[in-house]
Amino acid sequence: MPTTLIRNGTVITATEIMDADVLIDGEKIVGIAAPGAHGWKADNVIDAKGKYVFPGGIDVHTHMELPFGGTLASDDFESGTRAAAWGGTTTIIDFAVQAFGEQVMDGYEAWMEKAEGNCAIDYGFHMIVGDVTDQALKEMDILMGEGVTSFKLFTAYPGVLYSDDGKVFRAMQKAAENGGTIMMHAENGMVIDVLREQALQRGETDPIHHAITRPPVTEAEATHRVLAYAELAGCPVYVVHMSAKEAVAEVAMARDRGQNAFGETCPQYLFLDWDNLREPDFGGAKYVCSTPVRDRDQGHQDALWRYLATNDLQVVSTDHCPFCMNDHPKLGRQKRLGEGDFTKIPNGLPGVEDRMRMIYHGAVGEGRLSLNRFVEVTATTPAKMFGLFPQKGTIAVGTDADIVIFDPKATHVMSVGSSHMDVDYNAYEGKKVQGDIDLVMARGKVLISDGEYHGSKGDGRFLKRGTCQLLV
Ligand code: URP
Ligand code: ZN
Ligand code: ZN
Repeated sequence: MPTTLIRNGTVITATEIMDADVLIDGEKIVGIAAPGAHGWKADNVIDAKGKYVFPGGIDVHTHMELPFGGTLASDDFESGTRAAAWGGTTTIIDFAVQAFGEQVMDGYEAWMEKAEGNCAIDYGFHMIVGDVTDQALKEMDILMGEGVTSFKLFTAYPGVLYSDDGKVFRAMQKAAENGGTIMMHAENGMVIDVLREQALQRGETDPIHHAITRPPVTEAEATHRVLAYAELAGCPVYVVHMSAKEAVAEVAMARDRGQNAFGETCPQYLFLDWDNLREPDFGGAKYVCSTPVRDRDQGHQDALWRYLATNDLQVVSTDHCPFCMNDHPKLGRQKRLGEGDFTKIPNGLPGVEDRMRMIYHGAVGEGRLSLNRFVEVTATTPAKMFGLFPQKGTIAVGTDADIVIFDPKATHVMSVGSSHMDVDYNAYEGKKVQGDIDLVMARGKVLISDGEYHGSKGDGRFLKRGTCQLLV
């Protein structure tokens, strides 16, 4: 592969801001030096004057072609990873699924097959354990050897992916033994089911009732409970897609006690609220996801940003799980499955292409987080959390040349027309954000430049991951 020199940019890592030239040989970064203070020659020279040079984004929570809610997430591995690249994300970790009554390894192999040869960027898997049996626990050990070192369990979705407390605890004991990380979807699914049923009986069928029937206490209670079980079992626990400030307070308290407890939030919880869910003509369905977006008046968004600043939340992922409103050639009017009954709206929204722009805007553009912290929550900590650092998540000699050149003076308008996800709406339609992506490189190959995609299906490789690198 040719050599590339990125000249005159400002390189941003989680800890440094430096005017520097970056030399890339093949797939790796081989040199970083003060601008011009070297005799480097390269086949390709990219001028990054006035631009930031970020590590490629790492999105550790995506669901390409997930079967869910009676349909299938509309992005497959090909379209979803290509869209990720357009948005400055160069690595994803998706979720393989063991459905109830099936074997863990069968689910893992099925997802490996879906992804192999189709991804534009590097990818790994977490494993959803939907049926904690003796056999499933044994297969968790096998997966650790395959580089699948994190396992998601649900206290939500009774009858679908739900595990009772005993099952959650058994999986946690297994993780404590084999070095894995437990990821928790923490909502009290049993109580939520009662509230949903009662709402439907009262004729409350609109999308807003999805959020009303999942109040913050159902997230906070489940978070408290799974943190307690993880402490008892002695495993690291990572609570996914957190939206309620009361729930994050539980993670903060656990961390203060010295527990290996971690929390993730997503752009939808930092930017969307009940006004979106109340959009007329069933428009609110576009924003139905679980945990739900929260009522802005209750201060959740401000609290989540503060928790990101204080490292009580460590990661911003997307939980990318798109479903079309009106118009998918194969999958049809997916969100409309829930017209007249909000409990039937497929849960999830698109975001893999939007995350880096939206978080840069809210964090740096609007002055909530530093440049270093932006890199930390979107790339460096995700890499450390899931055993990919330093190959991924930073800019240093010897790391993969996964790089985003970002123009802080440009602006971008979020819109379905300019995005590449296989879905018929953008959750942030019309929002003007500060900064824009100029160039995206993955393992030394330019995937995006001058508004063109230069990658190919199959550029991405499977990543065998190590264990969590943030343990105390
Ligand atoms: O609404 C969501 N979050 N859909 C995806 C599945 C999950 O729970 O992560
Ligand atoms: Zn979940
Ligand atoms: Zn998810």
